[in-house]
Parts: sequence; C-alpha cells; structure tokens
Amino acid sequence: MNPENKTFHILTFGCQMNAHDSDWLGRALGAHGWTRAPEDRARVVLVNTCSVREKPERKVYDLLGRLSRLGADVPGRFFAVGGCVAQQVGRGFFERYPLVRLVFGTDQTARVPRALDALASGAEPGPLALLDFESAFLPRALHLPALAGEPGAGGEQGAVQPETGDAALARPGQAFVSIMQGCDNFCAYCIVPYVRGRQKSRPAADVLAEVRALALRGVREMTLLGQNVNSYGLDRHGDGTGFAALLRQVCAVDGVTRVRFTTSHPKDLAPEVVEAFGTLPQLCPALHLPLQAGSDRVLAAMGRGYDMRRYLDLVAALRAARPGIALTTDLMVGFPGETEDDFRQTLEAMRAVGYESSFSFAYSDRPGTRSVDMAHKIAQAEKLDRLARLQALQEELTARALAARVGERAVVLLEAESRRQDGRGPVAWRGRDEGGRVVNVPLGGGSGRAGRLLDVKVVQAKKHSLRGEAVGEPW
Ligand code: SAH
Ligand code: SF4
Ligand code: F3S
Repeated sequence: MNPENKTFHILTFGCQMNAHDSDWLGRALGAHGWTRAPEDRARVVLVNTCSVREKPERKVYDLLGRLSRLGADVPGRFFAVGGCVAQQVGRGFFERYPLVRLVFGTDQTARVPRALDALASGAEPGPLALLDFESAFLPRALHLPALAGEPGAGGEQGAVQPETGDAALARPGQAFVSIMQGCDNFCAYCIVPYVRGRQKSRPAADVLAEVRALALRGVREMTLLGQNVNSYGLDRHGDGTGFAALLRQVCAVDGVTRVRFTTSHPKDLAPEVVEAFGTLPQLCPALHLPLQAGSDRVLAAMGRGYDMRRYLDLVAALRAARPGIALTTDLMVGFPGETEDDFRQTLEAMRAVGYESSFSFAYSDRPGTRSVDMAHKIAQAEKLDRLARLQALQEELTARALAARVGERAVVLLEAESRRQDGRGPVAWRGRDEGGRVVNVPLGGGSGRAGRLLDVKVVQAKKHSLRGEAVGEPW
C-alpha cells in the first residue's frame, strides 16, 4: 500500500445527473489533493453507474471485470462504484469484485472524497458502503469550474471534465445546476424512483447562489437539472418557490445569457412555464419533452398521467408562446401489451410533433417496477424491429428540421475547435445554437474562444448538424 499515491480516474454512465455528480466529484477530489491518472495507472478508479435499462447494468459488470485485469502493478489499487446500480446492488459488489472497496449511493456523493481519503490512507480498513437516502437535498461545497483561461479551464486547456463512459458532459461556457433530486412519479417501467429516492427540491437561494457564482466565472449557459423539473418546489422540501418563479430568477442573474432545463414531465408542465418561453428571452427555444408512446392505452398502462390530446395541446401552446421552438423527446417501444397499432400511433405522434431529435429505447424489465408483472411481453426481435422503424422516421424528421434552418441566423455557443483531418483548409469550430443543434463554423484559430458566443448564418444542413458562416466576431 502506498498512502501517498492519490491518483484517480472516473468513468461515468447514465444521464446528466450522473455526469454532473462525476464532474463535481472530480473537482472535489482535486481539492482533497487527488490528481487524475489513466484508468490503468490510477490508484482508485471510480465508476458512476446507471441502471435505467438492462444493458447499462451489464456494462458495469463487464467494465469491472476488465478493470480488474488492469493495473495489477499499482500498489493499493482499488475501485469505488457509485450511482444507480450501486444503490441497487449495494454490498453485493464486494463479493463479486474484491477490488471494490467503496460503494456509494446517489445521495452520498458529497461524502465520497473523505471516504476515499480514509480508505487510501488506511485509516478506514473498508470495504465501505454509503447507501442511505437523505431526508433533504444535501448541500455540498461548490467546487466551481476553473475560470475561462485558468489552468484546468474548459476548451483547449481541456481538463475539468470527467473521463467519460457514455454520459453527457458539461461543455465550455456551459454548466449544469442541480435543482432537485429523486422522482415521485413511479412510471410503471422505471427504476429511477427506487435508485434516486423521493423528490427533494433544493432551496431556491442555493440554486441562485450557484448560478451567480458560475456567471461570475464566465459561464453563459445554465441548464437546470432534475428528473422532473416541472414539479420543482412541490415536495415538502420546497421553500415555496415554484419552477416558473425559479426560471424568472435564474434568467435575471447578471451574465446569464442562456437557460435550459431538463427533464420535463408533460403532466406537470404548468401554463406559467409555457408562457415563460414567450416572455424570458434568456430561455432557449428548445424543450425536451418525453412522450414515451403515442397510444393513450399504452400511456395509461405506463402511468404517465397524460394522454395524446393533453400532449398535443401542450405542443400547440409552446409553439404559440415561442414559434420555432425545437422539440425533442424520449420514446420507448415494446412496452408490455404494445400492439402494432399502438406502435403506429407513436410514429404518427412523432410526425404530428415533428421532433428534431429523440432518444429511443426498447423496453426492458427493471427489478421492482410494476411493468415486470404485466402480461403480453413483446419479443425482443419485434422490439428491435419497431425501434429500427422509429429511428428511420426520426432520421427523416431530423433532416427536415435541419434543412429548414438553412438561410436562418443563429447564435452559437462555441465548444471546441475541430481541425480538418488532412490538416488543410480553415479551422472549424463546433458549437450549439439556441435550439441545441450542433453547428460547425469555419473560423480562424485562436484559443480562448471556447465558451464564447458567435452570430452565424446557417448555410448548409448535414445529416445531424448544421454548417454556419460567422457574422462578426465571438463575444
Ligand atoms: N425523468 C425522465 C427520464 C429518465 S429515464 C423522464 O421522465 O422523462 C430516461 C429514459 O429512459 C426514459 O424517458 C425512458 O424513455 C427510458 N427508460 C426508462 N425506463 C426504461 C425501461 N425499463 N426500459 C426501456 N427504457 C426505459
Ligand atoms: Fe422515471 Fe417517470 Fe420519474 Fe422519469 S418521471 S424518472 S420516467 S419515474
Ligand atoms: Fe441512469 Fe440513474 Fe440517471 S438510472 S438515467 S443514472 S437517474
């Protein structure tokens, strides 16, 4: 054992909540004297896991198997498993993988730096399991990202970001701000309420303090994060501030240019929030509004709490409040009992709304959820066939939505420089427009552009992105 060796590596799976937790963990460990190292050299490998579908869970087991065969020469090497699979499997990891010395649940991230210090120094023999749910949103030290231009800042200087499995990362100039934890909806298929616990809203004052601190560090775009942000403040931990009021307060913070939020549940999207799209210029014209299925029968069996009529009324109201709003969604095929006719209604709904993009999944049984016991499970081959048809339609809708942008103006938040592989031709920058679409812009080099905004004219639509021409300089 070498107590002096405080090197770590983080692998992250799952949704933005996990990416956000890993991001924070990386910075918090830095503040505790830890430094990053490659996965086969690090003393500690942290794996932040997701269990929302069958496959990601299997991925964790495969990954731990692979990691166990690496780095045998690193003295005192061990693993920490966190997130949703850790919450579910708990101490089970200790028996299966002897190198796992810490498991931590989704409410326990704040306690991980100390636990790793204790395990690494030998003060705590381990193995250690931190799995309790807390009764309120645990405050944790902010550990903000580095200022633009500081060592460790985003963009060319790289490295505040966690190493990633498949989770989305915070991008330069942009930050996720957690406003709530957990979920109370218990959709019939979903494991999230079991692995993330009950909904706990974070006090508005804490949210605003973080937003102000980030804006002072040059962050232009804030994404408010929660499993169901539309019910922010409605649980007993709320301080009376509802989601629409929180949005107004966040948009009013000096330096905040863009605000997004995710995820929305259609049943809880209040008229005031729809209206906010028309009245708050900082609120980006983009909304991820998970539909799941287009058949009322399936929606009812899923326990989603809305029907197609309510959903399409919301879409109409959103488009009236903010014409051109980019709508994206989550869709699931093969829920127990889903017929070909039900599935066709999902395709029809996709056409009716004209989603710009979507995440789509084949239903899988998750332990402890209601749908496990439902009759008429759909064969895997049928699910995959429906998924392929759905994704083919989405390609068509995406192409149509992108083509409609050609000739329009956009404001792009610059993320990263991408050189042409042959080394010739102008340097391009990649970023995202207000609607969240990827835009590539040929633009002279020069560091320090990551995280800045640029006015562009859209000149071409590619399969999954746009090409723009700069109008003026980044600001
Ligand atoms: N809170 C978010 C979604 C969280 S899970 C919401 O309510 O929209 C992300 C997506 O995973 C879900 O929208 C759903 O489409 C998918 N998903 C959840 N459980 C699943 C399961 N058992 N099988 C397949 N997909 C699932
Ligand atoms: Fe899961 Fe439903 Fe909660 Fe989303 S709203 S996290 S799908 S239970
Ligand atoms: Fe996965 Fe947990 Fe998020 S199950 S989707 S990482 S809440």
